[in-house]
Amino acid sequence: MMKLFQDKTIVLGVTGSIAAYKAATLASRLHQLGAQTYVAMTDAAEHFIAPLTFETLTHHPVLRDVLALGANSEIEHVALAQRADMVLIAPATANTIAKLAHGFANDVLAAICLDTRAPILLAPAMETGMWENAATQENLEKLKQRGVMVIEPQAGHLASGASGKGRMAEPSEILDAVRHVFARNGSLAGKRVVVTAGGTREAIDPVRVISNHSSGKMGYALAEEALARGATVALITSVDDLPVPYGANIARVVSTRDLRETVLREMRGADILIMAAAPADFRPLSPAEQKIKKEAAEDLTLTLVRNPDILGEVAQVRATDSANAPRVVIGFAAETNDLVENARGKLERKNLDMIVANPVPQTFGSDIVKATLLLKNHYEVDLEPMSKEDLAAIILNQAEHLLK
Ligand code: CTP
Repeated sequence: MMKLFQDKTIVLGVTGSIAAYKAATLASRLHQLGAQTYVAMTDAAEHFIAPLTFETLTHHPVLRDVLALGANSEIEHVALAQRADMVLIAPATANTIAKLAHGFANDVLAAICLDTRAPILLAPAMETGMWENAATQENLEKLKQRGVMVIEPQAGHLASGASGKGRMAEPSEILDAVRHVFARNGSLAGKRVVVTAGGTREAIDPVRVISNHSSGKMGYALAEEALARGATVALITSVDDLPVPYGANIARVVSTRDLRETVLREMRGADILIMAAAPADFRPLSPAEQKIKKEAAEDLTLTLVRNPDILGEVAQVRATDSANAPRVVIGFAAETNDLVENARGKLERKNLDMIVANPVPQTFGSDIVKATLLLKNHYEVDLEPMSKEDLAAIILNQAEHLLK
């Protein structure tokens, strides 16, 4: 599930093009992302793909007939047109584009488009000749002027065997456009947020590592929440067993030094940096090049050296080159003892705007966390135990406040 799509009602219009088979992927993804997805098909579309395919994928009946009434005698497409958060037509044929441009309402999809106040997105699919035809281009121009958004077709192989512009955009690109529309009014629209997640790993030899119990869940919840608020999100992560929040730019790291390099690069131009990662503070001085064999010795002594303090370096950049540093920096502190004193010390040493203090061992890997938020001005909020998703929302509320 993805917060941005949850509780959204999307009408997916499918019209008569061979690209209709890709609409099945779209319907499936939208449903998985949590959107209530209702497919409206034209008669021509049914020659290419069966309504049952969409009903199975979306768990909703498909709208096919403009004159049909619903179970309670309501006019289904009217109710849906009014309830919809978006109408996405993919594929949109030249014929449907022409109908919309001229205000026809003689099929169920055209009727919905005429009636709805929701944003309309089109992903055209047609032969190059039809695409380039002045009639189509004029129709598209008219629609754009009315606020309809067009996801440009690509150049490439067409069903006729010819090659040219007219291939429908790929489902991933269409979903990005949908996400963009939903995110544009969010409280973090236009802002760049960098989040780190997970414990780093330091090699002892090619098969063994030093690491910690950080699961990465807090960082992922923060990335998800920032995306839902419309931010551009870079998620720098050392874990690979959590689902990637849809729309995040992922950077994968292993060691603390990888993380350091990636944070210093990604934070340029960022508005908010949230260091939810648990970087290993030490690494083996010289990792063995081959697997260490136990026969070699009865005991083994590893010499560890200190890793860089990433937030310490961020603080230096903020002090000397603030144009290249995030405006708001938030850290975490997981402590076994003297939670508030230790966390406040880190807040000051690392020149943070806020630190989220979590008691150990309750924190790692668990879905419920206890946290105290500490801010620069000695402001302190002791929160009740809650889910990492709820905590992410509170942290970002504070971050937004700090941005102002
Ligand atoms: N952090 C960091 N670089 C490190 C270690 C930690 O930037 N090498 C960040 C963490 O991501 C976290 C904050 O600093 O946001 C506090 O991490 P923590 O491990 O609690 O602090 P340390 O400075 O490592 O202090 P100590 O381990 O002595 O408690």
